[in-house]
Amino acid sequence: MKQFPIILSIDTSCDDTSVALTKGTQVLANIVASQEELHKKYGGVMPLVAKLAHNDLINPTYRECLKRAKISEDQIDAIAVTYGPGLAIALEVGIEFAKNLALQFGDKPLIAVNHMAGHMYSVLAKNSKQNPDFEINENLFPVISLLISGGHTELILLKNLTDYQKIGQTVDDAAGEALDKFARLLNLGYPGGAVMEKIAVNGNPDFYKFPLPMTQSHDLNFSFSGLKTFGRLLIEKLGSSINKTTIENLSASYQQAVFKAILYKLKKAVETYQPKSLWLGGGVSANLLLRKMLRNYCREKNIVFLYPKLKKLNSDNAAMIGIAAYFNYLKQDFVKDFDGLQRVPRLGL
Ligand code: KG4
Ligand code: ZN
Repeated sequence: MKQFPIILSIDTSCDDTSVALTKGTQVLANIVASQEELHKKYGGVMPLVAKLAHNDLINPTYRECLKRAKISEDQIDAIAVTYGPGLAIALEVGIEFAKNLALQFGDKPLIAVNHMAGHMYSVLAKNSKQNPDFEINENLFPVISLLISGGHTELILLKNLTDYQKIGQTVDDAAGEALDKFARLLNLGYPGGAVMEKIAVNGNPDFYKFPLPMTQSHDLNFSFSGLKTFGRLLIEKLGSSINKTTIENLSASYQQAVFKAILYKLKKAVETYQPKSLWLGGGVSANLLLRKMLRNYCREKNIVFLYPKLKKLNSDNAAMIGIAAYFNYLKQDFVKDFDGLQRVPRLGL
């Protein structure tokens, strides 16, 4: 057992083919072959298109990763792969590739990783110069991890690095999905959340008043379908009067409403669990307004705020899978039966 193993990790859960090499929490190389251009014309991810593209891209991405990290195959200590949640036929490509590598190498353990655990641990990623410079110690715990991606919106409570439980989740759409669907109604382009952020910069976030959902429920669950319906009806009502300024104001107001709904439940979670730090992860964590709202709130409450500081660590990537796998490695939590390792598209944390 090594203290800082070199882990080769693979993620093909959605529309990015990614292979990374990590050493502990340090990222040696993190190659992401984006399929954005392929899916753009459909306005969303097409599973079969993603699967075929993963098939074509996985081996060249692997080779490129070894080259970039200047690591040879015999230096690899373990192989990690995402087995869920994600698109079934896309996940399969990464799992098959990882199994074949493990069989080919013979003596290297295989580690199965939950994609959302990857997003959760993505805040711990450091570059080759060991930046960002922060220490992982007990002063950060308990942690609340806020995970906001295209398919998931979750609150996780971590008592320590490996002992965690889900304390809240969306009961319908994920926040990223709610952003993407509204962007599609306005024909903004793909991926919706990211495009909407750019357009929203020029709009007035208080121009349209959206309702704050789930204020009646006392649990820590989210719901975005009410906001989505309110947004759709508003667009229908505005009809042909919609122009560039309307779109900017709609984007800014809708985006802010989604983030206010998230903050509302986060505040409840903070009051209940009194965390020392907040970790943000998932594709939506790239959003600067969201980060600003969370940063201000954490400052007010004297909570350390961590989000993925390295480029590429916000959206889907394999380095975060390698970092999550590192904690499995330390516990020697390895796949015992290769045939038994199958994709779990609806895998929960
Ligand atoms: O984690 P992720 O890359 O993939 C999944 O695991 O789902 O998250 C993708 C989601 C999409 O909904 C996308 O629109 C959203 O993240 N997203 C953003 C931004 N960049 C990506 N949402 C808001 N602002 C952004 N800058
Ligand atoms: Zn993701």
